Amino acid sequence: MSTWKIDKLEVYLTKEQIQKRVAELGARISRDYEGQDLHLVAVLKGSVVFLADLMRHITIPHSIDFMATSSYGAATESTGIVRILKDLDMPIIGRNVLIVEDIVDTGYTLDYLRRILLEREPASLRIVCLLDKRERREVEVPIDYIGFEIPNVFVVGYGLDYAELYRNLPYIAIPKEGFLED
Ligand code: IMP
Ligand code: MG
Repeated sequence: MSTWKIDKLEVYLTKEQIQKRVAELGARISRDYEGQDLHLVAVLKGSVVFLADLMRHITIPHSIDFMATSSYGAATESTGIVRILKDLDMPIIGRNVLIVEDIVDTGYTLDYLRRILLEREPASLRIVCLLDKRERREVEVPIDYIGFEIPNVFVVGYGLDYAELYRNLPYIAIPKEGFLED
């Protein structure tokens, strides 16, 4: 079990900044899908906190489902090879699917997910992500709704983990000197 080093974290996006932006995204999505079917597909586990907040700002009827993926290789380096650990419970054929992602880094995870979901013939497929590490992109993925564009820094909190911890922080933080030691 890793130790809890909350004192070695620096707040990058406050709870208020995140809540304001998530409310804006929810309002926009509600307008864009007004009168239409909407099905949110969240990618476990990082996206659960974002999904839980976002869906409460979506004022139109919608359903949700989950998928879990894992990339082979080291924890923070993407290899481009993605594996499905948990598939969707429900079919998406003919539905307006909106993928909910916490963060887009190299883009490999979303690119893969997008391709396999498109094969299932949804009526439409869009993507919403809270954080976009644009400069890290190795494969181009069309993202329809973006919360914040961030530089190439490792972040934790608001669903994002380091060694499975810190997902519960209501803000997003950057590790300071000493965070990764011992
Ligand atoms: P991609 O396939 O490289 O775009 O990787 C996306 C996934 O990597 C995200 O869904 C996260 O689980 C993880 N990830 C990327 N950057 C970070 C970060 O800064 N903190 C925590 N997890 C991250
Ligand atoms: Mg992760």
